[in-house]
Amino acid sequence: MKSTFFKIISAIALLAVGVFLGKSFFATPYKDTVPIPSPIGYRMPTDANDTLIRKPLTYDGEIIEVKDGGSIQDAVKKANPGDLIRVYPGTYSENVYIDKDNIGLQGVVLNGKWPTLDGKKEINDAFLYSGNGILIESFKIINYKGNGIMGQAGNNFVIRNNWIIDTGVYGIFPQYGKNGLIEHNVCSKIEDAAIYVGMCDNVDVLHNEVFDNVAGIEIENSRHCLVANNYAHNNTGGILAFVTPGLPIKTTYDVIIRDNFVINNNTPNFGAPGSTVAGVPAGTGILIMAADDVIIENNIITGNNNTGVTIVDLATGAPKANDPSSEGNPDRVVILDNIMYDNGTNPTGEIKAIMLSQLDTKGPDIFAYGGGTGSTIRDKNKYRSFGIDDWGPAQITDTKNVRTYMLPEPVAPRSVSKEELGKITYYGICAGCHAFGNRLIGPPTEIIQAIHNNNPQGIVDYINNPKNLRDDYPEMPPQNYLSNEAKMAVAEYILQLKPDNETSQNQ
Ligand code: HEC
Repeated sequence: MKSTFFKIISAIALLAVGVFLGKSFFATPYKDTVPIPSPIGYRMPTDANDTLIRKPLTYDGEIIEVKDGGSIQDAVKKANPGDLIRVYPGTYSENVYIDKDNIGLQGVVLNGKWPTLDGKKEINDAFLYSGNGILIESFKIINYKGNGIMGQAGNNFVIRNNWIIDTGVYGIFPQYGKNGLIEHNVCSKIEDAAIYVGMCDNVDVLHNEVFDNVAGIEIENSRHCLVANNYAHNNTGGILAFVTPGLPIKTTYDVIIRDNFVINNNTPNFGAPGSTVAGVPAGTGILIMAADDVIIENNIITGNNNTGVTIVDLATGAPKANDPSSEGNPDRVVILDNIMYDNGTNPTGEIKAIMLSQLDTKGPDIFAYGGGTGSTIRDKNKYRSFGIDDWGPAQITDTKNVRTYMLPEPVAPRSVSKEELGKITYYGICAGCHAFGNRLIGPPTEIIQAIHNNNPQGIVDYINNPKNLRDDYPEMPPQNYLSNEAKMAVAEYILQLKPDNETSQNQ
């Protein structure tokens, strides 16, 4: 009796001490007693012994607060590596450029009110970062013309818990980055890809919701990517892994698409004419084009009116692109257990024609067309399929040993010696819109070479203040935020670029 009583009393005393400690620990540093959401609150990948298998980003420098009426860019100017910028609810109409390393930008959501970056359809980008170790979390980003969040050759990034609506061409677009995490974001109304992993390595894309976009999630010219637990619905195409020819990085391989819901992706294509995704037919659940070693596992794929999963080569999917150094066949695709039903209700275009030639009016769950070797599938007869008669049985049953494709330790920043600066700027920025020999968003780089032959200053002048010269192209966003050194370096790099020195696959 006595000992139970004693236990209760001491438990209460301990609790009181705990509450006191907890309160003072959390209350002192932050004026508004807003707890800092820590990465521990998010599920972190662990190994079989429950040990964390990658390091979270930490910011243990100053905390810089930005309140309604203030400027996030001013805070970035003040910040030193290791600082955390906390942005309170309010409307911020600005373009924020982060060219320092290890800066955290964290929205503070209070009583359901978010810090909102509103581009008012006048500003091009909300966040552009070229630094390494950048965190951008808990912002609402609306009405930009170019990108919600774009990375330009920054490594070790975390983009999390943002709400991105109608931000123009791309929602979240890390370009030419290594070792990154994109999780718990909600993106809609993006006219190209809502989440676009471009020329990257070792990126996890987890727990995002993407809808009402042309492309939901796009893994392009990237390797070692895990796309898991996402909800991709009501886009033109739900989840895409492919190779765009003409970019400096030539390959897409080692991609796992697992545990996603890929549902009702039937939105009419509203992509800009000439962009790669403008060719994606509405009704596409998953699209694999020229990507190798893609594993599709444990997804629920339903209600996509053209096909559940389309696998094509470049000759079929992007017939106009001409890049002899891109290998165009999707090789060694692996389809494991998935649930696919009610796909292909209303096929269009070539898929409709091909299915009609098979006396079938519906599109299939799985449609493979063109070249490619070594692809395999588990329980082939579970699905309605076309073009996979020569696929053998899968040699693996699951990918559960792959918990993450991120690396256990942060990787070093990309080298930025003078010689490298032009190349990095080109890969990290310009190549998002300019390919060497073919049209992307902007004209081919070889055309730029012809116009500005021997005149790098002409390119610098143009990118500082671009004018809309061509009726059939959109306006190019100004690049005047770049340092003068970077602008001249990229201009010189472009002028000496040759089609065959674009073969770097081992970046
Ligand atoms: C968001 C897409 C985009 C990005 C990023 C981009 N461009 Fe462009 N660029 C365009 C478009 C679109 C045009 C065509 C504009 C027109 O003719 O109206 C263009 C045109 C140009 C031209 C042609 C000028 C002329 O005289 O005809 C040059 C030079 C150029 N870009 C250089 C660059 C460089 C250098 C970079 C990287 C620092 C870059 N661009 C990044 C979209 C982009």
